[in-house]
Amino acid sequence: MKRRTFLGGFAASALVSGTASLSWSQTAAKRLSMPPLIDATKSHRVRLEAQKGRSTFSGPSPADTWGFNQPFLGPTLRMKTGQTTQTEVRNSLDEPISVHWHGLLIPGEVDGGPHQPIAPGATWQPELPLSQRSATAWYHSHVHGATARQVQMGLAGVLQIDDGQDDARGLPSDYGVDDLTLVLQDRRFTRRGQIDLSLSMPDRMMGYLGDTILVNGQVGAAAVVPKGMVRLRLLNGSNARIYTLALSDKRPLQLVATDSGFLDQPISLKTLRLSPGERAEVLVDFSNGRDVTLTSDHNPNTGMMGGMMGGRRQQTGRFSVLPFAVDPTLRARIKRLPSDLGGSRPNGDATSATWRRLSLDMPMGMGMMFGRDDRRFSINGDAYDMGKINFHVARGAVERWTVSADMMMHPFHVHGVKFQVLSENGRAPQRHNTGWKDTVLIDGSVDLLIRFDQPAPPNAPFMYHCHILEHEDGGMMGQFTVG
Ligand code: C2O
Ligand code: CU
Ligand code: CU
Repeated sequence: MKRRTFLGGFAASALVSGTASLSWSQTAAKRLSMPPLIDATKSHRVRLEAQKGRSTFSGPSPADTWGFNQPFLGPTLRMKTGQTTQTEVRNSLDEPISVHWHGLLIPGEVDGGPHQPIAPGATWQPELPLSQRSATAWYHSHVHGATARQVQMGLAGVLQIDDGQDDARGLPSDYGVDDLTLVLQDRRFTRRGQIDLSLSMPDRMMGYLGDTILVNGQVGAAAVVPKGMVRLRLLNGSNARIYTLALSDKRPLQLVATDSGFLDQPISLKTLRLSPGERAEVLVDFSNGRDVTLTSDHNPNTGMMGGMMGGRRQQTGRFSVLPFAVDPTLRARIKRLPSDLGGSRPNGDATSATWRRLSLDMPMGMGMMFGRDDRRFSINGDAYDMGKINFHVARGAVERWTVSADMMMHPFHVHGVKFQVLSENGRAPQRHNTGWKDTVLIDGSVDLLIRFDQPAPPNAPFMYHCHILEHEDGGMMGQFTVG
């Protein structure tokens, strides 16, 4: 059996031991670039084209990739609260895609899930009416059965909702200077430098894990930051990898926003767990002028199957996600931590809410594990069926959902809503789960309080699913209507 060295490609700079950090002048690392910004806050228009391209990652030869308006991944879209953005998505690929606006509170008809495929050569023109407040959302393909592969190829990007209050909140907002957009992903590459899309048995069961970390589609790059407060908008755009983020010199990550918006006040964290589909906005204080590296612990999601599935999942120790180098000539606008972010409001009353229980189920039986049945994953025993509506929710209702998982952890996501975590395994939610969420890592049993304000008719229902994309494609998904 071939053994891989984890992150072997840049192991020398990647392995962070305690206080070690990269100095910008000393490294040969290239400077991290941001995705191009499409600011639709004035034009109210966004044009995306899904296209083929070639991208050079770590290997000597370029890989075939897909992207929106560029070879790999897509631009950052900025849209304004209170406005409707006219969007146009052209599919110049050879197979159907869809574009789901993950985190937007918009009607089912424009949600971009499996019921709104865009045929090759076709253009989809949804109008996106936004009334929600500032949040970092994202967009990605969501064609049933092909989401994992299409996202691997590059069909994903970040979407920022801007309510115009960032200055009043005292937050950095200078795109790419003190406000960095960071898409975290992992990939494996074949000998010939292509993205390795093959799924091993552990990949099928527990989701795809790569051995190379990409930030904004780049391998081995370093971010350059001003000597002040810097905002990091983190998206875990990986298919299955869970990051446990920290800074190499133990300085805190100040959490200011979770998936669907701001907290009341910053929460100081030593480590931040970010599962696939989740976003977090953190502030990092660079005013001491010292370089530091954002690191992660290895994927913790071995579950009960870890032992059976071989050593690859048993990795320990931290690895580098992104080195930061301070450039004192850059303008640092914000020097101190804001105190009032004006965030959370309760979703309603939990006691009178309709109660649903959802169990995220792994395949049972050896035959299924060897891929003979593609309906291997399910929720409450039902594998996803596009022709079946799993339940109906009254518009405006508030519901309590108890979501449970025992074999391994699953990042659970619901379309068209934001929710609050009421409790995790009967206890108060972990601190990073106390804000507005649309995706939450289920480890045991988690209670959510969800309010359903957006309509979703039977021909355009909302999805709820595991955001390990191999699980989603494998059937760990359901759909509901709201009306
Ligand atoms: Cu980001 Cu239904 O997904
Ligand atoms: Cu979504
Ligand atoms: Cu899952």
